[in-house]
Amino acid sequence: MNFSNIMDSNSYSPDHPVDPATESLIAARDRILGPAYRLFYERPVHLVRGEGTRLYDADGACYLDAYNNVASVGHCHPHVVEAVSRQLATLNTHTRYLHGGIVDYSQRLLDTMRSEGPDQIDQVMYACTGSEVNDLALRVAEMRTGAKGVIVTSDAYHGNTAAVTAISPSLGGATVLGEHVRAIAPPDSFRTPRGELAARFTADVVAAIEDLQASGAGFSALIVDTIFSSDGIYPDPSVLAPAVAAVHRAGGVFIADEVQPGFARTGDDMWGFTRHGVVPDLVTMGKPMGNGMPIAAMAARSDILEPFARGVPYFNTFGGNPVTVAAAAAVLDVIEDEKLMRNASEVGAQLRTELAGLAADHPRIGDIRGAGLYVGVEMLTESGAPDRAGAKALVNAMRERRVLISVCGRDGNVLKIRPPLVFSDSDVDWFCTEFAAALNAA
Ligand SMILES: Cc1ncc(COP(=O)(O)O)c(C=O)c1O
Repeated sequence: MNFSNIMDSNSYSPDHPVDPATESLIAARDRILGPAYRLFYERPVHLVRGEGTRLYDADGACYLDAYNNVASVGHCHPHVVEAVSRQLATLNTHTRYLHGGIVDYSQRLLDTMRSEGPDQIDQVMYACTGSEVNDLALRVAEMRTGAKGVIVTSDAYHGNTAAVTAISPSLGGATVLGEHVRAIAPPDSFRTPRGELAARFTADVVAAIEDLQASGAGFSALIVDTIFSSDGIYPDPSVLAPAVAAVHRAGGVFIADEVQPGFARTGDDMWGFTRHGVVPDLVTMGKPMGNGMPIAAMAARSDILEPFARGVPYFNTFGGNPVTVAAAAAVLDVIEDEKLMRNASEVGAQLRTELAGLAADHPRIGDIRGAGLYVGVEMLTESGAPDRAGAKALVNAMRERRVLISVCGRDGNVLKIRPPLVFSDSDVDWFCTEFAAALNAA
């Protein structure tokens, strides 16, 4: 399969034999959910329970989760479970009634984004998914600029609404990039000299702005995932500041999509954009925000939000309800109480060091990069080309060894290692023991 489609980079296909019970569950699911859904791995995993970094399948076998960034403070964290249960047993309504929980949480969230200088992110709106808040951010940017044109990276994924699939080139398949969209190369630190990365990225942004202006669409926004995860994980923090300056000179809006790097994942800060030293106009977030409860948000500078907020009443039935806000507040508690940002930084560094040790004996590992607990391992063929098949084989070999990872990047050859933030030293040892065995057997 050609990796023009992010969903098929590591997906089950029926040519691989599975046991009869799995086969019958897959058949029932296909019959009822239809063919749009994908399952991970050649032998899909049927999970029934989770705890911390551990997942358990229907036969009771234990897996190490080195992939899931939704249950970011650990699967079924007792503090989150307790907060959700308590609120669910008390009240669950919506944002058309007064409730203190959303105001208190919003202030806490905005405090994590406070920056030097006059540009402050000072308001926040709620939805249930990253797709919805990116959709909202596009509308806000369009109202602010009066223009429609959007710049994305060439293998970006920003979600699944109509407006957002039109800015998600990595979906491929039958989805079509909008005529108002320009895709530029991500800041590929493996193939571009470090000193040239920021200049190249900025030059591409400037050229795309000019092209959009000439096309009649005008220039509305640059939106990037600030760790460039679907593009192949590019953590170099030098690239965004000059690009964002160019966006602002052209009157455009910078949207930081923090769905992947947000909430302490990168170890350096709560937010990927802070690592780059920029203050976005709009920040979107979701996935780890509620540790699995469906809560997402768009934080904004109020001057950027104003034309939309004044003109368009907003209501999202489930977005920001008291139960999901209780989950989100509990997630912030755990990040603080268990010092998970520091853990992401230290354990992530340890993981990259141990992987570098393995790379010394395995020339097929071309690059190890990342920030905190967002780690990419670029696999190459003997001739130095991207090794899509080899990466996929390793992901499946790791699954057979009960360690869960996946792949990303244009060529599907970058191993994506993104465990819950409670990953420990001994989890790193477990991971590296199995990874070494899988590499040696390959
Ligand atoms: C960077 C990024 N933005 C947005 C989304 C969409 O989020 P959701 O699936 O919650 O709609 C994703 C989902 O994977 C993502 O990775």
